[in-house]
Amino acid sequence: MEKHFAVIGDPIAHSLSPIMHQAGYKAAGYEADYQKFEVKPEALGEAVRGLKALGFTGWNVTVPHKEAIIPYLDELTVEAQRAGAVNTVKLMHNRLLGHNTDGSGFIRSLKDHLELDKGKKIAILGAGGAAKGIAMALTPFNVQLMILNRTPERAAELAQRVCEQGGQATQEAWGWGEWIAQADCLIQTTSIGLKNEPYPFSLEGIRPGCLVVDIIFNPWETPFLKSAKTMDCQVLNGIDMLLYQGVNAWEFWFEDQAPVEAMRRALYAACKPIR
Ligand SMILES: NC(=O)c1ccc[n+]([C@@H]2O[C@H](COP(=O)([O-])OP(=O)(O)OC[C@H]3O[C@@H](n4cnc5c(N)ncnc54)[C@H](OP(=O)(O)O)[C@@H]3O)[C@@H](O)[C@H]2O)c1
Repeated sequence: MEKHFAVIGDPIAHSLSPIMHQAGYKAAGYEADYQKFEVKPEALGEAVRGLKALGFTGWNVTVPHKEAIIPYLDELTVEAQRAGAVNTVKLMHNRLLGHNTDGSGFIRSLKDHLELDKGKKIAILGAGGAAKGIAMALTPFNVQLMILNRTPERAAELAQRVCEQGGQATQEAWGWGEWIAQADCLIQTTSIGLKNEPYPFSLEGIRPGCLVVDIIFNPWETPFLKSAKTMDCQVLNGIDMLLYQGVNAWEFWFEDQAPVEAMRRALYAACKPIR
C-alpha cells in the first residue's frame, strides 16, 4: 500500500524535502509519496486533523509551526521533549507521535568537522526551534554552550534547560562581545540572512580556524558566512543539516536505514541553481 508523507509550513513553496525524500523512496524501491502543504498558523489544528484523517504515515513540520504543533499531538519522543520543538510527526496506532531530528541531523553533519569533546566552547546564535533542537542534542557532549538571542528571555530559558539536563550553558548578551574570542565554533540559527541581509554585529576578534556554521543554505553563503570567511574561519552551511534531519526522519518513519547517498545527490542537484 502506498504511504503518504508531507511537509507543512508557511512559506513552503521552496522546500526541498519532497525532492530528497522521493529520491530516497525510489532508491529503496518504496511505494510512497511526499508532498508540501502551505499551512497558515490559524489553520494548524485543522491541518493536523486533516493529515491524520487522510492517513498520512508521517510529516515534517517547519517554520513557524515547530512549537505550536505540540498541543495537537498525543505523545512526544525524548528528543522532542528535550528540544521543546517538533519537526517530525508519525501516525502510529491512530496516535500522533512528535519527534525532533533537527538536533540529531545537525550533530551528524557537524561531526565531520569538529570533535565534540575536550570542553569545546560553542556559541549558539538564536533560541528558536532549530536552536533548541541543536542545543539539546549537544547537551550530552562535553561542550560548553554560550547562547545569545535577540529576545534575551528565550536565550536564558534555553541555557537553563541545557543545565537542567546536565549540560553546560551560559547566556550572553545579544550582539558583539568577548564570547566571540572564546568560541571554537559559532552556530548561526536565526533567520537573519535568508534575504541576504547583513548580520547585525561583526565577528571582530574571532579565532582564525574557528568553525562557523550557518544553518541557512539558501542563499548558499549568507553574508554572515561570507564575513566569517574573510576572517580565516572554516565555514559550513545548513545543507547537510537538512539532509541528515531528513535521513533521520526517514529512518524514524520506516525503522530502516535510509539511502543517504541517493538523498544527498538529489538534494545537491536541486541546489545547483543557488550554489
Ligand atoms: N538547515 C536546516 O535543515 C534547517 C533546519 C531548521 C531551520 N533552519 C533555518 O533556521 C532558521 C530558524 O529556524 P527556526 O525553526 O529556529 O525558527 P524560529 O523558531 O522562528 O526562530 C527564529 C530565530 O531567529 C531569531 N530572529 C528572527 N529574526 C531576527 C532578527 N531580525 N534579528 C535577530 N534575531 C532574529 C529569533 O529571535 P527571537 O526569539 O528574538 O524572535 C529566533 O531566535 C531559519 O532560517 C530556517 O530556515 C534550517
